[in-house]
Amino acid sequence: MAGQSAKHSGDHGDSTGKAESQLLQDLVDGFEQRFGTRPRIFFAPGRVNLLGAHLDYNGGKVLPVALGRGTYVALARSDRPTSRFASLDLPGEFEMEPREDTAADLLGWASYPVGVWRALGDRCPGPFDFLVAGNLPRGGGLSSSASLSVATAFGLLSLGGHGVDLEEAAQLAWSAETGFVGVQCGIMDQYASAISEEGRVLLLDCHSRTYDLLPFAEDLELVVLDTRKPRNLVTSAFNERVSECKRAFEILQACDPDLAVLAHAGLDQVEEAVGELGPVLGKRARHVVEESARMAKVHEVLEADDHAALGDLVRASHVSCRDLYEVSCDELDFLVDGVCEYDGVHGARLTGAGFGGCVVALVEPGSFSQDEETALLQAYRERFGFEAAVLRLELGNEVREIEV
Ligand code: GLA
Repeated sequence: MAGQSAKHSGDHGDSTGKAESQLLQDLVDGFEQRFGTRPRIFFAPGRVNLLGAHLDYNGGKVLPVALGRGTYVALARSDRPTSRFASLDLPGEFEMEPREDTAADLLGWASYPVGVWRALGDRCPGPFDFLVAGNLPRGGGLSSSASLSVATAFGLLSLGGHGVDLEEAAQLAWSAETGFVGVQCGIMDQYASAISEEGRVLLLDCHSRTYDLLPFAEDLELVVLDTRKPRNLVTSAFNERVSECKRAFEILQACDPDLAVLAHAGLDQVEEAVGELGPVLGKRARHVVEESARMAKVHEVLEADDHAALGDLVRASHVSCRDLYEVSCDELDFLVDGVCEYDGVHGARLTGAGFGGCVVALVEPGSFSQDEETALLQAYRERFGFEAAVLRLELGNEVREIEV
């Protein structure tokens, strides 16, 4: 085994600078050279989440949009007894027996596709060869891991000749990440990657698992600002927030046995229990409850196509992530505050888990000019001593098989 990145990261290297046609060509050529057969190619997108920060594992609603970039998985059946996994952008290869249980040996990106393979159980198509490439920025909180798991689930179900139910592909990807990889994430990223549609934003209720795909303002640009801050401790800090919310929920449920999930609690319930919750759990619970209240307004705001109101919700979400949920950092705050100063920027917030990674900003097309971008990036470099990046990404790619 070689080429592993940090534990619990789906980072399999990246082909960020390449055009899609070049990436696909390299993937097919790389597969043929390595494994000697011609593959089928499956794609799943990354996402940004506009609102509903850390609500998915608290049973709340979230508002992700799929990006035009994501993960490409090349797959072909093999007549060898083992399956082989490799990345186009990193050295090394993992070779595995069908039922070998080696989760502990599989740190790094390969634990994601292997986890999905395990979760498929009897529907696994038998031994196969697997090569991955992606064009999302590394470790930026744009769901490269979920898009890897979803592309694998979609690909292996297709290779096995099974009809693919996209919600099922999302569930499989989520079981792999929580059960095999060990990240206690919610279902947002996998659902966003699997069921999003072009030109739509996904309004997903993570408790009932029902959703709407709403038209998304064509006249609004989403700009991603990448702090490029290494996110080494994300998994442990993330899992800590999950367990804090679990404790807060248990305390509130003891007072109200009908309470189904933390996101359904009222602010009055949190305030009444402030003594039992204590300062830290009190802040976490307030974030969840207030963010849910913001989510309750979002349908109306989207229907009215009210960019300023959406921007205000997004900005308030960031403040809450910073002050109550404490998942922001100086670099994220600097980019959020900086970009919001420009005319035509309605709001911005950290997207994904936080602790570094990316900011998403809601921008009127034509605003936040190249000169403004250069000035913000220069101010960032002067303040932190390293470079951030601005990505004007296409939106709205869908999970699919790509004919090559
Ligand atoms: C990460 C997790 C998601 C979600 C977000 C925060 O992306 O994987 O499940 O909890 O953080 O909203």
